[in-house]
Amino acid sequence: MCGIVGYVGTKKAYPILINGLTALEYRGYDSAGIASMENGKICVMKDKGRVSNLNNIPGLNDLTGTIGIAHTRWATHGMPSKENSHPHMDNSETFAVVHNGIIENYNELKAFLSDNGYHFLSQTDTEVIPNLIHYYFSKETSDNKFLAAVQKATADLKGSFAIEVLSNLYPDKMIVVRKDSPLVIGKGSEGFHIASDIPALLEYTRDFYLLNDYEYTVIENSSIKFYDKNLVEHEKEIKNIEWAASAAEKNGFDDYMLKEIHEQPTAIRETIGSRLKLGEACNFSDINISKEYLSTINKIFIVACGTAMHAGLTGKKFIENLCNIPVEVDVASEFRYRNPIVNEKSLCIFISQSGETADTIAALKLCREKGAKTLAVSNVIGSSITREADYTIYTHAGPEIAVASTKAYTSQVVLLGILAVYFAEILESVDTETINNIKKDILELPSKIETSLKTADQMKELAKKIYTEKDMFFIGRGVDYNVALEGSLKLKEISYIHSEAYASGELKHGPIALIEKGITVISILTDEALVEKSISNIQEVITRGAKTIIITNLDLSNAGFENVVKVEETNPLLSPILSVIPLQLLSYYISKEKGLDVDKPRNLAKSVTVE
Ligand code: G6P
Repeated sequence: MCGIVGYVGTKKAYPILINGLTALEYRGYDSAGIASMENGKICVMKDKGRVSNLNNIPGLNDLTGTIGIAHTRWATHGMPSKENSHPHMDNSETFAVVHNGIIENYNELKAFLSDNGYHFLSQTDTEVIPNLIHYYFSKETSDNKFLAAVQKATADLKGSFAIEVLSNLYPDKMIVVRKDSPLVIGKGSEGFHIASDIPALLEYTRDFYLLNDYEYTVIENSSIKFYDKNLVEHEKEIKNIEWAASAAEKNGFDDYMLKEIHEQPTAIRETIGSRLKLGEACNFSDINISKEYLSTINKIFIVACGTAMHAGLTGKKFIENLCNIPVEVDVASEFRYRNPIVNEKSLCIFISQSGETADTIAALKLCREKGAKTLAVSNVIGSSITREADYTIYTHAGPEIAVASTKAYTSQVVLLGILAVYFAEILESVDTETINNIKKDILELPSKIETSLKTADQMKELAKKIYTEKDMFFIGRGVDYNVALEGSLKLKEISYIHSEAYASGELKHGPIALIEKGITVISILTDEALVEKSISNIQEVITRGAKTIIITNLDLSNAGFENVVKVEETNPLLSPILSVIPLQLLSYYISKEKGLDVDKPRNLAKSVTVE
C-alpha cells in the first residue's frame, strides 16, 4: 500500500512532492521521505511519522532541485523507522528508489547481493532494488546503461512494484516502471507529475499516461519516452480524465469521510447516468453482452474484498431475484485459494473501488485462466483491474479519499442493481412491470438518500451516548443482514470498537449468550416480509437487557421501541442504499467523539496492493 510521488519539471520539486504525499497519505502514513536532485547529487530526507513531520527536517526548505521522488509508507517489511523509510539508496549512493508493492523474493536477492559484496541498512524488501540496479549497471556495456540496468533489475523481481529511480550519474532523468502496483503520470504545464493515483495530481493536470505492467518510462526535462519489456520504444496515448480537482478536496467538511457520505446523492446520480431511463432498455453499450452468451451462463461469481464484498452480497440478491441465475459471493483472498469450480459457463464479477486490490486482481486472473469471462466494477478509470477484465463498468462516485468506504459502496450496490436489470431485460426473466417499478425506484434513490442524510443529528446524539462502549452487535435478515455486516465493518474500521454482525435468525445459535444488560444491539429492519420475525429477535435481546437502535423504513410507532431511526421506503432490494447511511454517520460521529483520525484509521490503508 504506500504512496509514491515524483516530479520532473521547471519548478522546485520538494513542495510539489510534499503536496502529493499529503494527498496520498490515505495509502500509508507511518513514515515519509523525499529525494531531490541538488546540483547533480541526490539529497534524501526521510523519517518515521506522518508526512507533515518532513517539514521538521532541517534543510528541507533549502532544497531547490526540480526533479525528485517521494514516498509515504505503510510498513510491511520492517518497523516504521528512519532506516526503513524510503527513498532507499544503493551502497555507493548512486541510485535512489521509492517503491510501492512487495518483492516476494527479496531474501533470495539479498543473499545474492550479499555474496557479491553488498550490505543492507534496512529491513525492507525495497533496498534490494537500488543495489540490484547498481549491480547490473556496473556490468552493463550498452549505450543506454541506466535504463538497461533498471530493466535487468526489475526482471529479477517477483511480486509487485511501482518504482521511481533517480541516479547521480543522470541528474536530469527519472525512470519509472510498474508491475501490479498502481502508477500514473500526469502531463502538467510545468512538468511531469507521477503518483500512485489520479486524484493526487488533479490540481496540476487532467492529462494522464496510464502505465501498463513493465512499461519502462524515461522522463528527462520536457521529454517522455516509453519502452516495452524488451526496451523497444513505442508511442503512448494520453488520456483526459474528467474528475474535477475540487472532488479531491474537503470543501468545508471536517473530514473526507463526512464529505463523501454527503456526496452520495450525487455519486448515485452520476452512476445511474444514462444507463437507466424509464421506458427504455438499460444502456450498457460499452460492454454489450449478448443474449446468446448470457443464456449459456449457469453461475455468476462475485468476488471482492472488504466493503466491496458487502456490496457484492446485495448484488447477489439482485441477480438471483431478477435473473434467476445462482450467484456465489466470496472474499478474494479465500476464493483464489479454494480451487473454485469456475468454467466457461461462469461469469465472474470483480468489485474494486480502487481497481488495485491485489487479491481481487489475482482472483480475476485465475477465473480468466479457467475460461470464464470476467467483468470488473471499478471507480478508477484505467486502474489495473479494468485492464485485466474482459468487460468493465464504472461507478462514478468521484475520488474516494477516506480509508473507510462510503459513497463507493452505495454506488457499487446501485450499479450492480442496474446490471441485474440489464441482464433481466436481455434474458426476459421477469415481467415488464417488475422492471419498470425497480427502474423507478432506482431513479428515486438520490432524493431518498437526502432523507437518510437528515438522520445526522440523531446519529450524532446516539454516538454521544454509546461511544465509550467496548462491544456492539448488528443484526438483520436478508439484505438487512448485508447492511449489518457493512455497519459493523464501518464501526470497527474508524472507531476501534469491537462489533459482530449476525443474521438475526442465528442469534439463538450462540451469540445471544453474549447479550447482557446495557449492551447495544443495532438492528436493521426494512423488509416487510420479514418484519415479524425480526421484531421477535429484537424483543429477545431487549428481554436480556440490551439497548437497541433500530434503522427502519417501517412504521414501528406501536411497537414501543427506543431509538428508532427512520429512512424512506423503497424496493426491498434497494433498501441497503438508504439504511446504511445512518450507520455510516453513527460510526463517523463515534470516531469523532473518541477524538480519532476518521480518515486515516490505524493500521488500515485504502488500497491494499499486497496479498
Ligand atoms: C481496504 C479498504 C476498504 C475497501 C477494501 C477493498 O480494506 O480499507 O475500504 O473496501 O480495501 O478495496 P477496493 O479498492 O478493492 O474496493
